[in-house]
Order: sequence, then C-alpha cells, then structure tokens
Amino acid sequence: MVPQNVPLELLERIADHLIEKGYVIIDDFLNQEQVDELVERILFHREEGNLHKAGIGKPEDYQVIHEVRGDYIQWIDREKNPLFFSYYVDRIKEIARFLNRTCFLGLRDYEMHMTVYPPGAGYERHVDAFQKDDNRRLTAVCYLNSSWTPGDGGELLLYPVTDGGEEGIIVSPLGGRLALFESTMAHEVLPAKEQRFSITGWMLNERHLQGEGID
Ligand code: OGA
Ligand code: NI
Repeated sequence: MVPQNVPLELLERIADHLIEKGYVIIDDFLNQEQVDELVERILFHREEGNLHKAGIGKPEDYQVIHEVRGDYIQWIDREKNPLFFSYYVDRIKEIARFLNRTCFLGLRDYEMHMTVYPPGAGYERHVDAFQKDDNRRLTAVCYLNSSWTPGDGGELLLYPVTDGGEEGIIVSPLGGRLALFESTMAHEVLPAKEQRFSITGWMLNERHLQGEGID
C-alpha cells in the first residue's frame, strides 16, 4: 500500500483548478516544522558556499543576467540529498501521479532547487518552459518565509491568459504555501525586501537518465 500523503479531496481540487485556470495555490502544504527544517537546510548550504547565482536558459546558452533574475540557488541532488525533503518530494510525486491519472499530463520526472532571493532581488516576467523543448510541464514553488508580511515583498505575479487582464494575480509567498502552475504561463517575482526562501521545482515530461522518476 502506497502511503497517501495528500488527501483525495485536495488532489481533486488541485486537478480541477489547474484544468480550469492553469494554476492552483495550496495553503499549508507544509507545516511550520517542515518549513523551518527546510530553511535550516538552505541556510546550512549557504554557509557551506553551495548556493550560486542563478542563470537563465540551458547550459549551452547559459548566462547570468543580474537585471532579469536575482536569486541564488542550489539544485537538489536526488541521489545524495533527498532525505530531509523527502516528505515534500513524496507529496509532489503523489500530485503528479494523480494528475497523470486524471488529466493525462504524462509527467515522468521532476527537478528542484533551493532558492534564496536576497533583499532587492526579483525575477522579471518570463515563462519556465524553454523555447526549444517543452519538457517542463508544471512549475511548483513552495514558500518558506513563515512570518512573511506584505512589506517583505517578493510576491509572485501570475498572468493566466484566460483571465485576460494584464494586472496579474498576486500570490503572497506565505510560509508553507505551494503555487503550482503551467510552465508556459507568464509570471514574475516582485523584488524581495527581506530575504525570501523557497523550493522551486518542475514536473517534467521526460525522464532523467538516473533516479526514480515519478511513477
Ligand atoms: C522561477 C520562478 C517563482 C517564485 O524560479 O522560475 O518563476 O515565486 N519562481 O519563486
Ligand atoms: Ni519562473
């Protein structure tokens, strides 16, 4: 019996909202303790000097453009590193499997990085699905600032085409909250005023060469 970490009701709400709107926001996806533990891990990696300035695009056209994107990241090595965040990954995989069964998304793998936006950093409007391939199907961001308040900045703005307006939907990066959206949807991160922690990940249509994948 595979343990059921995400209640069926929530899985159904996620699928319905994703199909209808192209995004879904889930509050309290992680509890306080889990959020604190992940922040601790990120701070540890930062101390160790493992976080590096994020770039844009695929390795072959890799470039660091400070004006576009100001976050620091470390990719999570699925072989070496997974224990401390397995609770999170297991739930993400469960959502992916449910979406495969109900919406035929063909999700086969995932990738994730720890992310820190220092004060002043944001990420200009962009899409995550690379132009040359559409392997990134869904973006999943879990926010880790447990005492976030509006003055802290760093809101996510989503621009779903169906909603027409160019204003964007404002998603506050509340600790424990998960934002899940189509990777082809335009979005941006407003400049953070306080440092902003998150786990950023993607559900992929192609399988990595190594690792356990989604199914
Ligand atoms: C990204 C991104 C959104 C967020 O890393 O591609 O758009 O809210 N992140 O952190
Ligand atoms: Ni993005």
